[in-house]
Amino acid sequence: MGDGDANDTIKVAADPQAPVTRKGFLISIKTGEPTEIKERDVFGRCRVVTEFEKLNRIGEGTYGIVYRARDSRTNEIVALKKVRMDQEKDGLPVSGFREILILKSCKHENIVNLLDVVVGKSLESIFLVMEYCEQDLASLLDNMAQPFSESEVKCIILQVLQGLKYMHSRYIIHRDLKVSNLLMTDKGCVKIADFGLARLFGQPCQPMTPQVVTLWYRCPELILGSCTQTTALDMWALGCILGELLSHKPLLPGNTEIAQLELIIDLLGTPSEAIWPDFPKMPAIQNFTLKQQPYNNLKPKFQYLSAAGLRLLNFLFMYDPKKRATAEECLHSSYFKEPPLPCDPKLMPTFPQHRNLQSAHNIKSISGSHHHNQSVPELPAISDLLGSLLKKRRVE
Ligand SMILES: Nc1ncnc2c1ncn2[C@@H]1O[C@H](COP(=O)(O)OP(=O)(O)OP(=O)(O)O)[C@@H](O)[C@H]1O
Ligand SMILES: [Mg+2]
Repeated sequence: MGDGDANDTIKVAADPQAPVTRKGFLISIKTGEPTEIKERDVFGRCRVVTEFEKLNRIGEGTYGIVYRARDSRTNEIVALKKVRMDQEKDGLPVSGFREILILKSCKHENIVNLLDVVVGKSLESIFLVMEYCEQDLASLLDNMAQPFSESEVKCIILQVLQGLKYMHSRYIIHRDLKVSNLLMTDKGCVKIADFGLARLFGQPCQPMTPQVVTLWYRCPELILGSCTQTTALDMWALGCILGELLSHKPLLPGNTEIAQLELIIDLLGTPSEAIWPDFPKMPAIQNFTLKQQPYNNLKPKFQYLSAAGLRLLNFLFMYDPKKRATAEECLHSSYFKEPPLPCDPKLMPTFPQHRNLQSAHNIKSISGSHHHNQSVPELPAISDLLGSLLKKRRVE
């Protein structure tokens, strides 16, 4: 709300049937008379998205479209994430609201910085303004000519661990850690992004739609229907990311829940009550007939990994979430203290910004128009289409 003369007034919820308009009204507490909101107060203290020049689309996820944009007030390049309102007739979808609240409460070098929240022209859309990161690890892995070296992998994982330690100490569980949600700046700084599914530890869980959360990084307790979701869920995903960075391909790319469980069992052996006391009590255990496979195959799979590296992977892949490594414990792992030592983030290589390689025409048609709202149809560039295909492959 704007400051103005609105001190003695409260906003009344508009008629839900009425079309969304910029003109709301206030009812004076003193007189009960409706007062029209002044033009300058319509947006409250929020900035309007038209103050940002959209340069190109950099990502389209399940919950929103992301643009690279220039803040016309400061000239700063930012990322603008449009919060999807599709299913919402009235108000903000819960995922968007949760993302804003959680991101606002997080200030850490390894967590993407939310700079502002701005509104669309007719207040029907909401955008998160975030610091811009040149790369996301998924498109980087898909496009880089040469895989990351082990010392670069250590540098990336250490930074994710710092971000996770911070989040987890504030009772935040990310719940959707995967390579496409890890961003990297040209200074080699890695940032955890996309808090659309994040929850506060201890909040009652809701079943996750399998199509929404990538299976590949999903821990066994979640597949088996556990209702207590803990920070250990993010640690399993981190194990999958470490494995993916080390072996240059996704570690457990299952297509269905049962296929995912079987891939896990092939790698780690069949779980049992002896190593995971709560295993027989898992709610969805009856839905699956688990294959019997007695061996832990991490060592043959990662033949060149040192004993300390294997210990770390095994610790991240503990079946029992209570025994699984915490971010703090991982940070003390001797894997990060032995050669090859983690490289300094500043020495990380820089990469071409393939997400921005669009045709000049396309860029012009987006930024050249002065209608920065979504009513302007935007044709996807070839790079977007290719990106979507790769992304689809990853999501599937
Ligand atoms: N701050 C940023 N800087 C640069 N690129 C970003 C930024 N935020 C998001 N992106 C890009 O946009 C993509 C989608 O963003 P994000 O993951 O936040 O949205 P989402 O809709 O929740 O996606 P998904 O459902 O695919 O996880 C990211 O993978 C990344 O490529
Ligand atoms: Mg994402």
